[in-house]
Amino acid sequence: MNFYQAGKYFHYWCFANHQNGHGIHSPFVFDLLTNIIEDFTPFYCFSDIENYRRKLLKNHSEIAVTDYGAGSKIQKSDKRKISEIARYSLTKPKYAQLLFRLVNHFKPENIIELGTSLGLTSLYLAFPNSKTKVFTVEGCPEIAKIASNTHSNFIAKNINLQIGNFQKVLPQLLNEIKTIDFAFIDGNHSYKATLENFKLLKNYSNNNSIFIFDDIYWSKEMTDAWQEIKSDNAVTLSIDLFQFGIIFFMKDFKKQDFRVRF
Ligand SMILES: C[S@@+](CC[C@H](N)C(=O)[O-])C[C@H]1O[C@@H](n2cnc3c(N)ncnc32)[C@H](O)[C@@H]1O
Repeated sequence: MNFYQAGKYFHYWCFANHQNGHGIHSPFVFDLLTNIIEDFTPFYCFSDIENYRRKLLKNHSEIAVTDYGAGSKIQKSDKRKISEIARYSLTKPKYAQLLFRLVNHFKPENIIELGTSLGLTSLYLAFPNSKTKVFTVEGCPEIAKIASNTHSNFIAKNINLQIGNFQKVLPQLLNEIKTIDFAFIDGNHSYKATLENFKLLKNYSNNNSIFIFDDIYWSKEMTDAWQEIKSDNAVTLSIDLFQFGIIFFMKDFKKQDFRVRF
């Protein structure tokens, strides 16, 4: 955690206004917090995926990396060890397992993940329901090769991996999918790209869509993007978990914003 993130984390922890559903009047939000966000019951597949993560963490072979994103704060060279990517770039188990619970509960038909990396989080998105289609986009061909291996190892047939820059791949992909029920935006952590991706995906959202933004306090740019996203008129419910910002678009909801200790 850098100095900026540490300051933001301190502020978040002191001013997070809800935990265990206390003071929440909306039945929807109460259920979301108590039965999904704060329910840490493990599912059968978690240990298999985490065993695979351990294998990646022990794989010290190097690959050539093409970085389309805002750049890594830790890994600067264009050659990276798979073990380092596994350590620094992947969503941590606690948060990936929250994605699993959200998908398991809301049963989205179409999911999009921007930023596949080694493919572990796509598994968490795909496993709750084999009928859910998970579209995941990765710009770096060498990283995508490993993700593809990960998906094949788990015989995850409902994952569709697309290789290429978001800007290039997304317009055609979204045209084909038509509606996005669930989006996990976890690549290119710049203000401009985050807002561009939000605006583009928003055009394909529906009343029940859920969008999750990773690393909303990674930098001031990301925090600014998160502030703008949650103030968008189409967003009626926003939940700040520090690592994740979650938004909902339900039209019959009065706009509400929560910061929850997770
Ligand atoms: C933080 S990692 C994704 C982690 C993954 N979602 C997980 O939880 O395991 C971000 C990934 O997005 C990719 N990426 C960043 N910007 C991109 C862009 N503009 N187009 C395509 N891929 C991009 C990077 O190559 C990197 O592998």
